[in-house]
Amino acid sequence: MWIFGWKGPSGFSASSTAEDVTQGIDGTGLTSIVTGASSGLGVETTRVLALRGVHVVMAVRNVDAGRSVKEEILKQIPGAKIDVMELDLSSMASVRKFASDYQSSSLPLNLLINNAGIMGTPFMLSHDNIELQFATNHLGHFLLTNLLLETMKNTARESNREGRIVNLSSEGHRFAYREGIRFDKINDESGYHSWFAYGQSKLANILHAKELASRLKEEGMEITANSLHPGAIMTNLMRHHGFLNSIGNIVGKYFLKSIPQGAATTCYVALHPQVKGVSGEYFSDSNIGNPSSKAKDSDLAKRLWDFSLTLTNSK
Ligand SMILES: NC(=O)c1ccc[n+]([C@@H]2O[C@H](COP(=O)([O-])OP(=O)(O)OC[C@H]3O[C@@H](n4cnc5c(N)ncnc54)[C@H](OP(=O)(O)O)[C@@H]3O)[C@@H](O)[C@H]2O)c1
Repeated sequence: MWIFGWKGPSGFSASSTAEDVTQGIDGTGLTSIVTGASSGLGVETTRVLALRGVHVVMAVRNVDAGRSVKEEILKQIPGAKIDVMELDLSSMASVRKFASDYQSSSLPLNLLINNAGIMGTPFMLSHDNIELQFATNHLGHFLLTNLLLETMKNTARESNREGRIVNLSSEGHRFAYREGIRFDKINDESGYHSWFAYGQSKLANILHAKELASRLKEEGMEITANSLHPGAIMTNLMRHHGFLNSIGNIVGKYFLKSIPQGAATTCYVALHPQVKGVSGEYFSDSNIGNPSSKAKDSDLAKRLWDFSLTLTNSK
């Protein structure tokens, strides 16, 4: 990570905010989906994209919470174009319904921000009986992206503007299980470790973007796919870890990023002209970063793609 205030090649640093990295960028005419837009980084990402003129569709599992966020943003930015739609990433039926409703709306789609996430949960299964962190953080987004890809391709062709897919990963991807992805033991409760499972899901976010980027390049599509680490920020993500949450709330302001700083890399990768044509990369502090060797493993990325396709096609 770039030390706070030390600028990387992009000209931005860990202390840059989402407003800093999008200063002067006109997002008018673009439409974006932001998943998990009802809390933390998703709220600030929605606010700043809307501030730059982007039409944002907040994809949230709690629609009332989403509507409150929308109202708060509208008080600050009266002209903001924001919609709220229901999406529960831990249910493939909900993901399919969201995608179908989105297609029926005839909205275009330039930007897909796969932001929602859960961290360090006790062992639980999703609606489709798949370990919950892998199901929510990776599989739900994998299915959502696949279902919306045709809409993104049409939009890119018709608007002649590059589409961008942005996966929120984490430096936590370095602390996955030893084998990276536990293909044969994805639902093994006895070997479950809440942090390694989070790491596994965040490794999957990077591998997903990497494999998707190479497929889109092969097709010659003007759509990029990248992943990123937003930094360490106090949000609701620690909700399953009361003790760490309390400590973070007390001392976090001295050494963690603020939420406006935490949303910077997402907004940079989504909107900045410097990122045009850049695909399959992992960003950190609004600069290209260097993920783990597992995250760069093309064979692992391909295997995860096939595995995810099998799991999502069968449900
Ligand atoms: N904060 C950090 O330090 C940090 C560090 C590295 C990476 N990240 C990544 O950044 C992303 C955003 O996290 P955050 O810090 O903003 O956390 P957050 O405040 O907890 O927000 C997470 C969002 O995801 C939503 N979500 C959870 N499960 C969902 C589901 N099944 N379907 C749809 N939405 C769901 C939550 O909705 P509800 O409010 O309804 O639960 C919430 O809106 C995550 O992918 C996380 O892994 C964060």
